[in-house]
Amino acid sequence: MRTRPLKVALLGCGVVGSEVARIMTTHADDLAARIGAPVELAGVAVRRPSKVREGIDPALVTTDATALVKRGDIDVVVEVIGGIEPARTLITTAFEYGASVVSANKALLAQDGAALHAAANEHGEDLYYEAAVAGAIPLIRPLRESLAGDKINRVMGIVNGTTNFILDKMDSTGAGYQEALDEATALGYAEADPTADVEGFDAAAKAAILAGIAFHTRVRLDDVYREGMAEVTASDFASAKAMGCTIKLLAICERAADGGSVTARVHPAMIPLTHPLASVRGAYNAVFVESDASGQLMFYGPGAGGAPTASAVLGDLVAVCRNRLSGATGPGESAYAALPVSPMGDVVTRYHISLDVADKPGVLAQVATVFAEHGVSIDTVRQQGKDGEASLVVVTHRASDASLTGTVEALRKLDTVRGVASIMRVEGE
Ligand SMILES: NC(=O)c1ccc[n+]([C@@H]2O[C@H](COP(=O)([O-])OP(=O)(O)OC[C@H]3O[C@@H](n4cnc5c(N)ncnc54)[C@H](OP(=O)(O)O)[C@@H]3O)[C@@H](O)[C@H]2O)c1
Repeated sequence: MRTRPLKVALLGCGVVGSEVARIMTTHADDLAARIGAPVELAGVAVRRPSKVREGIDPALVTTDATALVKRGDIDVVVEVIGGIEPARTLITTAFEYGASVVSANKALLAQDGAALHAAANEHGEDLYYEAAVAGAIPLIRPLRESLAGDKINRVMGIVNGTTNFILDKMDSTGAGYQEALDEATALGYAEADPTADVEGFDAAAKAAILAGIAFHTRVRLDDVYREGMAEVTASDFASAKAMGCTIKLLAICERAADGGSVTARVHPAMIPLTHPLASVRGAYNAVFVESDASGQLMFYGPGAGGAPTASAVLGDLVAVCRNRLSGATGPGESAYAALPVSPMGDVVTRYHISLDVADKPGVLAQVATVFAEHGVSIDTVRQQGKDGEASLVVVTHRASDASLTGTVEALRKLDTVRGVASIMRVEGE
């Protein structure tokens, strides 16, 4: 074993960073044995230097992250600050100064992954980010390495624990959205400002990263269609139950049937209770992968939290250190397929539409005609009427999102349709 240690600069010592430092210290001997050289924490960059940080030598703490990265003797920079800047500049500076990088930063990777990979490649360094998607769950490496010989057609997952906790609460207790969100906040599962989670921004960043890796194609955050979950109601859950389904916020990355394009989207969807993703409870994450040769695979586990996320960071740290000792780098960006990313209108799926209609003869036929005119075939219709008003629940066969949008626009114009109460996609069948 090499006795000279590999030097690690830790940028950020919050929820994730403090656990990275703790595991580096408590598992130092095992990490050294697995890597083939000891790893030494050479510096810890933070914003508030006076904060007491258990287990961290105060002499290592600095507020000057740039100087730490530019020291010239750092082997690996672990970026767990988050956000776009200064993280982006610190990462590119690390490459320029001869260090490889491990990051947990989904927002940055989804926005600037291609440029960061190019910078790593230019300087012959590694860029690893297993922790950026689904916390502790090994996903990036299985997609990038274990499945490199297969053809991935679909990646569908629950990649945000906060939203899954809220939807699971609504499902199991009959609570409304706000009540479930309040409980998630009180228990620490939702942040004071839950926008990034409930509006699907966080899941969209992860979808962009997953789609890029799965389809060997650059997929940017802007390419991902996104709908949040704040509109999901208790009555949507009742409708889902009536169909033997539940509702999940899903990130779905798909290769088109002809293989010539891909799509990436995040939205709430009904899935059958028999689908493996339906049994993912609480704040857990899971990702369901379908590929030509392997068939169906599911990856499941804690998608966030200090220690689980640090586990993924440490796995990357070991891999990057091993590469460094052998004078090699791991796999970089693979975007050779360069498939076009299609708009949401091209996505083909099934729909559950709930309409408030006048309870009089001929309404059903009128509504059915509108679906037929837009090429959307109806699978089932359920009608309930009372006091001159009725609700009509239509479940369609597979149709394009553009056709469904056209159908709904036309339905809204019918005098007999009082309102479109909800539209939900049905996945996983
Ligand atoms: N938390 C999770 O469960 C989780 C899961 C997966 C991925 N991630 C990702 O991991 C990253 C870190 O998340 P976190 O939850 O650990 O965040 P956090 O608790 O807010 O910690 C951020 C750390 O960065 C430091 N920092 C902020 N601005 C800085 C600057 N300009 N220079 C130097 N240090 C600075 C902060 O210093 P102070 O301590 O002085 O404030 C703090 O130590 C993010 O990219 C996040 O998306 C987190």
